[in-house]
Amino acid sequence: MQSHLDQFHALSELLSRYKGDWQLMPFTQATWPWPEMAGLEAFSADELDGLDLDGQRALIEPYRPGLFAWMQTELGAFAAEGPEPLARLSVGMKGRKWQQITDFSQAVRPVASVLEWCAGKGHLGRVYASQGHAVKALELQADLCEQGREQARHWQLDHQFVCADALSADAAQYVRQDQHAMALHACGDLHSRLLQLAVKAGTEAVSISPCCYHLIATEYYQPLSSAGRQWDLTLTPFDLRLPLQELVTGGERASRLRHLEQQYRLGFDALQRALTGVNAYLPVPNAPKSLFTGDFAGFARWAADKKGLALSAGINWQHYLALGQARQQVVRRMDWVRHWYRKPLELWLLLDRVCFLEEAGYQVSLGTFTDKQHTPRNALIDARRGRF
Ligand SMILES: C[S@@+](CC[C@H](N)C(=O)[O-])C[C@H]1O[C@@H](n2cnc3c(N)ncnc32)[C@H](O)[C@@H]1O
Repeated sequence: MQSHLDQFHALSELLSRYKGDWQLMPFTQATWPWPEMAGLEAFSADELDGLDLDGQRALIEPYRPGLFAWMQTELGAFAAEGPEPLARLSVGMKGRKWQQITDFSQAVRPVASVLEWCAGKGHLGRVYASQGHAVKALELQADLCEQGREQARHWQLDHQFVCADALSADAAQYVRQDQHAMALHACGDLHSRLLQLAVKAGTEAVSISPCCYHLIATEYYQPLSSAGRQWDLTLTPFDLRLPLQELVTGGERASRLRHLEQQYRLGFDALQRALTGVNAYLPVPNAPKSLFTGDFAGFARWAADKKGLALSAGINWQHYLALGQARQQVVRRMDWVRHWYRKPLELWLLLDRVCFLEEAGYQVSLGTFTDKQHTPRNALIDARRGRF
């Protein structure tokens, strides 16, 4: 079996080679950017979205050799080794959240007192505390800490809360060697910071499920591992959002409104290019959803107002809407290509964290802790100081 580092190098090489595919911003492109894949233009966006695996492979493999296999990579599932949490602790939690907590707590068994990083109300830590483990929760929001403390008093648990900013210098004091540090869905910089502090403190075990990779303070992603720095992909927050762009579901109405919004935005873009004579994409801020239940002219007037653009009389709205609809097909085809890289890019980000911990001497397992239906961010990195 390939080591994590070998996988990371192979994936880095592939992502570097095809950077022009996934770093492309479809909205800003006026024309189809891949002449070698001109054949894709024969498909409607709906046809591409509806392709089965064989159909996808036939369109991808000839142009981007090696990519399809990475798209199909599935992480193995961690075994559920721990006891079922007490059902009464689920009160006030949504079903999916409780399932995540249950599965995480069964997949990760504490080997020392628990530090839960960015704990919210401390749902996960409460499960461990109810099983006899000492738990400390670090959380920024005072009201969440107070609600967590209230629960700890109610259930008489050894569950302490520290109200602190995980990114502050002060937070370092809470990460110690004799702990099992955990973070369930702490965003971007927050879980990276835990990894850095844990490595520095030599923390016994670290188990995290990362999310929101794009929430970083820097302009570009700073790889954690030295292997990652060697292959720096210069990822921007826009690139880092790609792994989070799941195939959106949410019913026919939501999907219709999403498509309409894209058509209106692209129609407005065609209009503003014609009016200003500047052939460049002009970003328009988030718009109230109600604008997309009205007509295109209403949206375009709103957008023009936001951008300080004077609209001349007698604009042929139908013409610009038709341009927007045509461009939407192209944008959706480009998105279809970009989405090939969602999984490989997320795996790269996970492996950067894994390699960082391995470089620091940890033995690391990478897998899933829960089914995708409970959360799309279901990866778990589990690291133990190298004595196992
Ligand atoms: C997505 S929630 C996850 C909460 C919890 N781990 C869970 O799975 O239920 C992220 C948590 O991080 C907290 N947070 C955000 N920024 C923080 C910071 N700078 N320091 C500490 N906690 C922070 C938020 O208040 C929130 O409770």
